[in-house]
Amino acid sequence: MLLRLENIEKWVGKEYILKKVSLKIERGDFVAIVGPSGSGKSSLLYIMGLLDKPTSGNIYYHNKVIDFSNKDWICKFRNETIGFVFQFHYLIPELNVLENVMAPQIKRGFSIKEAEDRSILLLERLGLKGKERRQIFEISGGEMQRVAIARALANDPEILLCDEPTGNLDSKNTHMVMEIFREINQRGTTIIMVTHDLNLAKGTKRIIEMLDGEIKTSFYLERVD
Ligand SMILES: Nc1ncnc2c1ncn2[C@@H]1O[C@H](COP(=O)(O)OP(=O)(O)OP(=O)(O)O)[C@@H](O)[C@H]1O
Ligand SMILES: [Mg+2]
Repeated sequence: MLLRLENIEKWVGKEYILKKVSLKIERGDFVAIVGPSGSGKSSLLYIMGLLDKPTSGNIYYHNKVIDFSNKDWICKFRNETIGFVFQFHYLIPELNVLENVMAPQIKRGFSIKEAEDRSILLLERLGLKGKERRQIFEISGGEMQRVAIARALANDPEILLCDEPTGNLDSKNTHMVMEIFREINQRGTTIIMVTHDLNLAKGTKRIIEMLDGEIKTSFYLERVD
């Protein structure tokens, strides 16, 4: 078992935005999380990405319970294991496109040359060849989103968590990103993707539907390909 959530609850001061969420994610899963705006999708993803601490309940990675008080361990684990694409990309404006993708690799211990070579390849794969040296404010919203995806893939994560990764993309780039996701999923990367787009959700292996902070339904799709 790669990831297990056990009775996760999140209290934000006036209400529970997550209520008794229990979930198992197997290695190789490709999951779409759908549900109306405000139903708790991003909140759940943050907790799965160890960016936020639940009010109660436990999270297990590799069958070991996560200790949220051990911040150093969590930072290292996230850098090595989890790729995260935020709903709003959060690229670093002081760094150019290439440097944004290199940053997590440098933290991981790759040399500058290695990080640069790997980043150039990733950016090319995401259709951003020639834009490596641009500043973040010199690229479009859809390009920023693709840089954020390249950054999340930079350390070859075991699990990729993405919040509306194609929200700013046109249909051609959405298709390209889904092809990349399918390919890395086939090679073993587990993917959890929040999306409003039911057509995209249908391209995954499993759909989890959230409503009012709870999981309403969870089912595996029959693959037709
Ligand atoms: N830190 C917080 N303090 C107070 N309320 C919060 C906080 N974070 C989230 N919420 C509330 O929790 C609910 C769930 O928010 P969340 O961002 O998880 O929704 P979502 O399903 O991702 O919605 P969307 O599809 O619009 O992105 C919302 O009602 C939101 O206003
Ligand atoms: Mg959200």
